[in-house]
Amino acid sequence: MGAGRRKLILVSNRGPVTYGRDENGERTTRRGAGGLVTALGGLLSHHDVIWIASAMSDEDRVVAAEAGGEAVDEQTYDGSPFRLRLVAHDEVAYDRFYNVVSNPVLWFLQHYLWDLAYTPVLDAALQHAWDDGYVQVNSGFADAVVAELALDSDAAVLFQDYHLFVAPRLVRERVPDALLGHFIHIPWPQTDYWHVLPKPIRRAIHNGLLANDAVGFHTHRWQLNFLRAASDLAGAECDLEEGLARHGGRRSLVSAHPISVDAAEFERLAESEEVVAAEQELIARRPEQLVLRVDRTDPSKNIVRGFRAFELYLEADPERIGRVGMLALLDPSRQDIPEYSEYIGAIQREARRVNDRFEHDGWIPIELVIEDNFTAAVAAYKQFDVLFVNSIFDGMNLVAKEAPLVNRRDGVVVLSENAGAHEELGSWAVTVNPFDVAGQAEAIDRALTMSLADRRERLEAIRTHLREHDVAWWVESQLADLDRCAALRV
Ligand code: F6P
Repeated sequence: MGAGRRKLILVSNRGPVTYGRDENGERTTRRGAGGLVTALGGLLSHHDVIWIASAMSDEDRVVAAEAGGEAVDEQTYDGSPFRLRLVAHDEVAYDRFYNVVSNPVLWFLQHYLWDLAYTPVLDAALQHAWDDGYVQVNSGFADAVVAELALDSDAAVLFQDYHLFVAPRLVRERVPDALLGHFIHIPWPQTDYWHVLPKPIRRAIHNGLLANDAVGFHTHRWQLNFLRAASDLAGAECDLEEGLARHGGRRSLVSAHPISVDAAEFERLAESEEVVAAEQELIARRPEQLVLRVDRTDPSKNIVRGFRAFELYLEADPERIGRVGMLALLDPSRQDIPEYSEYIGAIQREARRVNDRFEHDGWIPIELVIEDNFTAAVAAYKQFDVLFVNSIFDGMNLVAKEAPLVNRRDGVVVLSENAGAHEELGSWAVTVNPFDVAGQAEAIDRALTMSLADRRERLEAIRTHLREHDVAWWVESQLADLDRCAALRV
């Protein structure tokens, strides 16, 4: 499938690095957070990449200004060179883009997080944040893409995620022949749910995506939802079998390619000094059987219901108290958004309630750690007996892929049927309905009492699948789609 080195323009809101200053005033470079950045990192060593991202920190803005808005030379941790172009958006517009539209509206919509009897309440503020925030920031991205295409018209553009729904249309209007691909990392809800948004906005989203030559999703479920919504909301003519959407005299290839992880890199990481040290610490305090969850503190991750499920599990049999513990390693996320800061409060209250009920002699059932600590997460991946993933909806959920790769205890994955990962790994996991807490309690019991042979067989099957379908395979599938699109044009 690989077609040699290519020229790629990668566009995402969060970039692969972010700059800061240390105590001596020297510039520091920190790797950007999140699974998307890790997954896309693989592109950098194999292709000639210009990465366009938002300037997020103050120092990012300084770097962007020093470069006169153009790209600077950067390199990955393993020394692969790439060019980074930081777009310094207007700060007020960026706040509306990220904290008003992208997360509280688009993320909530695409994960079905609203309680429709009460939320959302949309008024003129949304339209204002859309026009003078989301569209303005997308237009800044489109300007940067057009400028890079003027320097190299052969480069293919790869937009990433829900922050950039309208940018492809803005680029297409100015560079009609550009080869454009877009990958969506979160679920695509069914048409009716899109009707919560005002008509011009939901149309602009679908029209924007249909300006791409290729649109990718992690699962067939999200792919089909998009094709149906594109037909219902934007009048596209869609072929569900072929994965094609015809619209405005153009054709978009719509496909499903599940993102994955770099298996070899995770195995190496698991043996690193820092991870082994963190693992020793965990071994010293771990319960006899460990149920692990690793998430961002995002309402879509369903953490509060997960604690309630664990309470029901303990309640069912007093023998479990003192023997089985839950470790929740949670990375604080999007704290400028009220729904997210309130959710951390709800997580803490629920953990406290369950702990108050069952704690005795210094033992607590739920160890709650709220910090960004990837080393601790990888150490815990090695030690779980049950990995608990009960997301309400999830585009993929990379934890469900990372953790089994390095687990040393024949651990079992309990997995939400609404996580994208379920489409691939479901037959080797214990499936849960994320709303059914009694079912989740039973799933924990089933996973913890499974025979060693059964556990081992499931874990090995997951690993074999992931080694065969790793992140390089995901990247190459997208590039193959672009080749197919280029071929369809001639
Ligand atoms: O799941 C989509 C995603 O963009 C991930 O790639 C990333 O880990 C996460 O959301 C974090 O988002 P943010 O950039 O808002 O912190």
